[in-house]
Amino acid sequence: MNASPQIARTIAEVRGLIERLRAERAGGESGNEVGFVPTMGYLHEGHASLLRRARRENGITALSIFVNPIQFGPNEDLERYPRSEEADLELAAREGVDVVFLPSAQEMYPAQRRTTVAVTGVTERLCGASRPGHFDGVATVVSKLFNIVKPDKAYFGAKDAQQVAVLQKMVSDLNMDVRIVPCPIVREADGLALSSRNVYLSEEQRREALVLSRSLREASARIESEAEVTPEQIVAGVTGSIQASPLAQIDYVELLTFPELQPLDPKRDLSDLRDSGGSVILALAVKFGSTRLIDNAILNLKEAPLHV
Ligand code: PAF
Repeated sequence: MNASPQIARTIAEVRGLIERLRAERAGGESGNEVGFVPTMGYLHEGHASLLRRARRENGITALSIFVNPIQFGPNEDLERYPRSEEADLELAAREGVDVVFLPSAQEMYPAQRRTTVAVTGVTERLCGASRPGHFDGVATVVSKLFNIVKPDKAYFGAKDAQQVAVLQKMVSDLNMDVRIVPCPIVREADGLALSSRNVYLSEEQRREALVLSRSLREASARIESEAEVTPEQIVAGVTGSIQASPLAQIDYVELLTFPELQPLDPKRDLSDLRDSGGSVILALAVKFGSTRLIDNAILNLKEAPLHV
């Protein structure tokens, strides 16, 4: 049984705890690097897999749980976003987390904020287009968390592939001294990508939501096996499969370059990218009732599909 994590609710407390652990573990067998997993809580096996990797690769594992209000739009689900501090702390203890940072909104945003971190280009499409301001909120809070926790590495799930691309660009453009480590999507046995929002789905919606991973798998196989297939055909195939589900309402289905997230010529096959060994992302966002799910497949065109 692992020891319970130390809990910090203020910025001063978490800084103190991390500094102390770094000093205590300097020169120790597993080192004193800090692996950090920022989350919004309601933790599931996907988060657990990030924590396990952080723990394997670092002497100190830090987790933050903060439902960040500035990354939600006015008509989004901030108020009903699921929360469960007790269960989250139990999972953190099971995974051997050293420090959990659990700030309030007042602690993170005490006064009127005049600074926003905005990453352009990679935020123009996908969730950046359908959730205006979302990635400003993500980049701003993650910058603040990096300044507070000062991690060596930070671990993010590839289900939010655009978030990973945005944060990688931010860290590189701003010379932040932290390495972003993208980790594979974790799925249920039937293919549904794990998400805290899955809890909102009715039984019927959950059953129908399997069309997302199924259509990504089918499209990935097509990209791999049909040399002449075009982006337009891929997107039309996935859109058709999803539209066959009466409960699904498509927000977007797009095939873009990865990690730049730039559009491809819809009518031209992928041979240039295949030759240069480039990668593409097939990304989708679909609503079932009021629950919006995202999923994606990233394919290196010279290798086997990733993350599906
Ligand atoms: O992926 C999330 O849970 C959030 O976007 C993050 C990175 C914790 C920032 O609030």
